[in-house]
Amino acid sequence: MEHSRTAVLVKPDGLQRGLIGEIISRFERKGLKLVGLKMVNMTDEMLSEWYVEHKDKSFFSELKNFMGSKPVVAMVWQGIDAVPVVRKLVGTTLGREAEAGSIRGDFGMSQQYNLIHASSSDEDAGREISIVFDDDELVNYSDIREQLIYADYELK
Ligand code: CMP
Repeated sequence: MEHSRTAVLVKPDGLQRGLIGEIISRFERKGLKLVGLKMVNMTDEMLSEWYVEHKDKSFFSELKNFMGSKPVVAMVWQGIDAVPVVRKLVGTTLGREAEAGSIRGDFGMSQQYNLIHASSSDEDAGREISIVFDDDELVNYSDIREQLIYADYELK
């Protein structure tokens, strides 16, 4: 079965609140595989591309200012259905309404300060990954845990 990739950003509020380890740990425990990781100061140009779907929204410039105000931690996670799996772990946008047990549901109250971004489709994932990562910054490796996390037919 196909193992796809998704992009995650721990936003400036997640970094400032010391939640990087907690967030990485949740994806690791789920069984996703980390294939890219770095800290980035997102430029206005990168953010305009990242949030292109919001370019006409009233909060666009505020969102870019916030996201560029401090470093973010960018990650690429891999697994079967990585995009929907990660979105479920992240929870819905508004922290105070997000499901308990999700990252936003457990740690957030805000709409803008919602700790984390996760790609919403495979197409968005490809675009977002290429904004932050060069091809040679994404790694391929076999992870011994995969034999325990997936059945044989899911690994093929
Ligand atoms: P994210 O999943 O990164 O996608 C777009 C982001 O815009 C969203 O999380 C929120 O952080 C932010 N956002 C959405 N709606 C608003 C709003 N009304 N005001 C400010 N920020 C918003």
